[in-house]
Amino acid sequence: MTQPLRLGIAGLGTVGTGVVKILRQKANLLSARCGRPVVITAVSARSKGKDRGVSLAGYAWEDDPVALARRDDVDVFVELMGGSEGPARDATEAAIAAGKDVVTANKALLALHGQALAEMAEEAAHVIRFEAAVAGGIPVIKSLTEGLAGNEISRVMGVMNGTCNYILTRMEDAGLPYDEVFAEADALGYLEADPNLDVGGIDAGHKLSLLSAIAFGTRVDFEAVELEGIQKLSIEDIRTAASMGYRIKLLGVAQMTGRGLEQRMSPCLVPANSPLGQLEGGTNMVVLEGDAVGQIVLRGAGAGEGPTASAVLSDVIEIARGSRISTFGQPAAGLEQARPARASAPAQYYLRMVLTDKPGAMAKIATVLGESGISIDRMRQTRHDSAHAPVVIVTHKTSRDSLDTALSGFAATGVVESDPVAIRIETV
Ligand code: HSE
Repeated sequence: MTQPLRLGIAGLGTVGTGVVKILRQKANLLSARCGRPVVITAVSARSKGKDRGVSLAGYAWEDDPVALARRDDVDVFVELMGGSEGPARDATEAAIAAGKDVVTANKALLALHGQALAEMAEEAAHVIRFEAAVAGGIPVIKSLTEGLAGNEISRVMGVMNGTCNYILTRMEDAGLPYDEVFAEADALGYLEADPNLDVGGIDAGHKLSLLSAIAFGTRVDFEAVELEGIQKLSIEDIRTAASMGYRIKLLGVAQMTGRGLEQRMSPCLVPANSPLGQLEGGTNMVVLEGDAVGQIVLRGAGAGEGPTASAVLSDVIEIARGSRISTFGQPAAGLEQARPARASAPAQYYLRMVLTDKPGAMAKIATVLGESGISIDRMRQTRHDSAHAPVVIVTHKTSRDSLDTALSGFAATGVVESDPVAIRIETV
C-alpha cells in the first residue's frame, strides 16, 4: 500500500477540532483524492482532558507542541495554535528544522516571520502552506498562486475580517452605535482575545500583506501596511453614506505603482450596489485583478470550524498529492523587498464636519478646498439646528496630499467645531 501521510496537529480549538472531524469522517474520500491515506499520528493542545466532541483515540498526545513537531512519526506539522511568537513560532521552526512540511492557519506568524520561515523551509526542500490563514474557507491563496499564476496582478482588494464586517453591517441594519455592537460581537464570541486585532485592522492587515507578497512577488512586509481600524466610525457616517448610495467597509487594497507597493487596510466607502457593498455579516470577499483574466470576485465564510478546516485540508491534500509549491508562489530566497509607497492614488473622499452656523462658514470651507486644489462633487447640510450645521461633502478625485492640506486648512477657519471625518471612496 502507498505510504500514508502522517499529520501532527498542534492546537485543538475550533479549527483543529474541525480538521480532526473531517479526517475521521471522510478518510476514504480523502484517501481516494490523495492516492494515499492521510492519518493523524499525534496531537497537542493546552488541555488533554477537555471534551471536544470528537474522539482522539489512536493519536499520541504531546503536551509540548515542539516535541510534537519533532516526532519521527509526523510528516506534516499542522500548526493551529495562533500567535506570532511563543509556541507557534517555536514549534514551526522546530518542525522545519526536523525536516517536516508545515500547514498553518496562522496569519500573524507568517505576516511577521514568513520570509525567514519560507527561506528556512525551502532551503531544506520543505513546504509551508497557509490557505486557512487568509479569508478562512475562500481558496484565495491557491487562486493567486495557481489559478492566476499566468497573470500579472494589478490590484488585490478585500474585506477579510468578518468581525468588522459584522459590526459595520449590524450598526447599519439595527441603527446601533459602535460601542453597543462591539459589546454584542464580544458576547457572541466573535472577537479575537485581543479585540484590537480585529477592530484595529491588524488581523486583516496581516492577511493583506500575505496576499501582496504572492500577488506582486515581493517579501511579505506587514510593517508597510497603512492601518486604520473601524473604532472611530459612527452610525452617523454609516447612515449618511447609505443615503448617498455607499456602504462603509474595512477594505484592504494592495497595488504596485510606479512609486512602489501600496498596501492599506482602512475604512472606505464603496458603492452599495457593488459586490463589496453588498457583503453582509461575517462574510469575507476578495477581489483579484489580473491582466489576462480581468476581475475575479471570491466570496465566502472567513472564519468558523468548517470553512477554516476545509482550507487546512486543502493544503494537507496538496502535500499528500506531491505538490511542492513555494510558500509565496516563487522561491523565497529570490524575493525582494518592495519599496513601500504611501497609498496616494487619487480618489474621491467623503468629508463630514460640524460647522458653526454663521454667515460665511460654508464659504470658508469651500475656499479651503478650492485653495487645496480640491473640487466639490456634492455637498449637503444635514439636521441643522440654530447653532450647529452638520455638513457632508463628497469631493472629486484628489490626492491624499491635497486632502491633508485641506484638512489642516479647515482648522484655521475657526468655523469647524470637531475633527472632520475623511473617508476614501474606493473605485471597486
Ligand atoms: N477574527 C477573524 C475574523 C477570524 O473576524 O475574520 C479569522 O481570521
